[in-house]
Amino acid sequence: MSRSAAEERGIAVFDRFVARPGSGYIASGFALGWIIDLVERRRPERILEVGSGIGTITSAVLEARDRTGAGGLHVAVEDVPFCLEQFAANLGPRAAEVVVVPRAADVVAAVGHVAFDLVIVDGGDPDDLAPEERHTFTAEDRAAEVAAWVALVAPGGLVLVENTRAAQRRDLEAQTRRRYAHEHVRPADATPGLHLYWFEPSPARRAAAAARGAANRLWFPTGLRVARTLHRRITGRPMARRRAVASGQF
Ligand SMILES: C[S@@+](CC[C@H](N)C(=O)[O-])C[C@H]1O[C@@H](n2cnc3c(N)ncnc32)[C@H](O)[C@@H]1O
Repeated sequence: MSRSAAEERGIAVFDRFVARPGSGYIASGFALGWIIDLVERRRPERILEVGSGIGTITSAVLEARDRTGAGGLHVAVEDVPFCLEQFAANLGPRAAEVVVVPRAADVVAAVGHVAFDLVIVDGGDPDDLAPEERHTFTAEDRAAEVAAWVALVAPGGLVLVENTRAAQRRDLEAQTRRRYAHEHVRPADATPGLHLYWFEPSPARRAAAAARGAANRLWFPTGLRVARTLHRRITGRPMARRRAVASGQF
C-alpha cells in the first residue's frame, strides 16, 4: 500500500470519529495513515497505546490487523471516565479485544512482563486534560508514566508519538539509556505530524532517520515559505492546509 493510500484510509477513520462526542483531540488523518501503514507492514504482535481516548487509533489498529489477518495483543492506557464510555460506545463488541488499564504503570499487573513491538503515544500529559482537571495529573505523573511505558519497549521496538508532545519526548529522551534513532515525520504543509523513536536501530534505519532530518532542515521553514509564495503568485490562492486535523477543543 502506498503512503497516500494509507493516508486516505487514515482520513476515512478520522472522518468517522470526528462526528463523535469528544473528538476535539483525536489523532490526525496523517498520523492515523502512518499507524495503519506501520501495522500492516510491520505486523507488530504486541501494541501498547497510551491515551486511547474515544478509540480512534484503536479502531485504525484493529482494522489494519483485520486486513493483514495477523492478530496480537493490544493494550490501551486510559483513565478519563468520559473517554472510557465513548471508547466502549464507539468500538462496541470489539472493545473486548483490547485490554484497557488506567495507567501505564498498571500494564505489567494486567498482562505480565510483555515487551511491546509498537508503543503509540497519544495521551499521558497534563495538557490532555481540560484546564480545570489538569491539577489531577502533574509533570511528575507524566514522567513516571513515560518511565513505565519506556521500560516496556521491546528490543528493536518502535515508539510513535502522535503530534508534538514535546514534554513527553523530553522525558523519553532523558530517561532511556538505550540507543534510538529519532525521526520527525512532518507533513510538507508543516502540520505537526508525528515522531518516531526506533530503538536499537540498524545502520540503514539510522541513515534513513538522518536523511529525513536533513530534508526537514531544507524544507522548514525556507522551502515551505518559498513554495507558499510561489503558489500564491501562480494560483492567486493560499496553499491548502492538510485536512483531517482535530479542532483542539474539548
Ligand atoms: C489526544 S487525546 C487521545 C485521543 C485518542 N488517541 C483518539 O484518537 O481517539 C488524549 C487524551 O485526552 C484525554 N481527554 C480528557 N478529556 C477528554 C475529552 N473530553 N475528550 C477526549 N479526550 C479527553 C484522554 O485521557 C485522552 O487519552
